[in-house]
Amino acid sequence: MRGRDLISITDIASEELEDILQTALGLKDRGRQTLLVGKTLALVFEKPSLRTRVSFHVAMRHLGGDCIYLSPPEVGLGERETPADVARVLSRYVDCVAARTFKTETLSELAAHASVPVINALSDREHPCQALADMLTVREKKGRLRGVTIAFIGDGNNVANSLSLAAAVSGMHFRIASPEEYGLPQDVRVRAEELAKASGGSVRVMHDPGEAVADADVVYTDVWTSMGQEHEASQRKEYFAGYMVDARLMAEARPDAIFMHDLPAHRGEEVADEVIDGPQSVVFDQAENRLHAQKALLALVLGDENAA
Ligand code: CP
Ligand code: NVA
Repeated sequence: MRGRDLISITDIASEELEDILQTALGLKDRGRQTLLVGKTLALVFEKPSLRTRVSFHVAMRHLGGDCIYLSPPEVGLGERETPADVARVLSRYVDCVAARTFKTETLSELAAHASVPVINALSDREHPCQALADMLTVREKKGRLRGVTIAFIGDGNNVANSLSLAAAVSGMHFRIASPEEYGLPQDVRVRAEELAKASGGSVRVMHDPGEAVADADVVYTDVWTSMGQEHEASQRKEYFAGYMVDARLMAEARPDAIFMHDLPAHRGEEVADEVIDGPQSVVFDQAENRLHAQKALLALVLGDENAA
């Protein structure tokens, strides 16, 4: 994977995903390494972040490298300077760029003009680094990916897009329950169905949360209003009423089902306290896995030799 961009989770083939997960498990076991001594990552963020920003920074430091954070007003993507020029300049200083943008087109423009790898640190379209940590978490908690049923309750958003595609490529059974108006985008659904067909997995789209979680191994949700959609928040609350993951809904999943959420959570909206703080919740292990999955990704994309 050396030198490659990661814009969509579909940029990673199933064997490469396996390689990332194995590398992550190895690095998690062995702690700090010196694989990226002398390498620098730039974080270019148009939106706020806790997990992504900190886990990328710490990942670089643990691997012996360095990290620079550029906040929205500092970089002024598309305002102070075009994404193309930002990409050309950063490529002269750093070894990799991880960008969090509103539009996926901004990321594509950065990637097209950077001579170093560009990683999607979340866009309105996808959150592939989250999906890597999610797959690592399911693998750890369930011992496998193939055949595991994962039910996503809520908005067909960036997190759901990457999760559906990662699950489909991994031979998992992915179900999503959303209000009619807020389902998975049609092209993502079609691509996920194609990938699932090849892997022995499946993709099902529905509206009833109870039907989606029935006998599921994993129940997953995310906020109803993503960053950049704040003006739609009150309308979304109306549409998503009935889509909260509470104890009653969790009880319809398998008794050993785990609860996942990429965080930040809006408690009392998409998830009840009793679930996110309950015994089935793995949300903080999942958040920790952002660090391990990204260490593996960075080692494989930037490392000089085999990181595994
Ligand atoms: N899950 C996630 O990406 O969190 P942040 O927005 O805090 O980075
Ligand atoms: N869907 C959320 C994910 C945050 C990590 C958002 O885009 O705001």
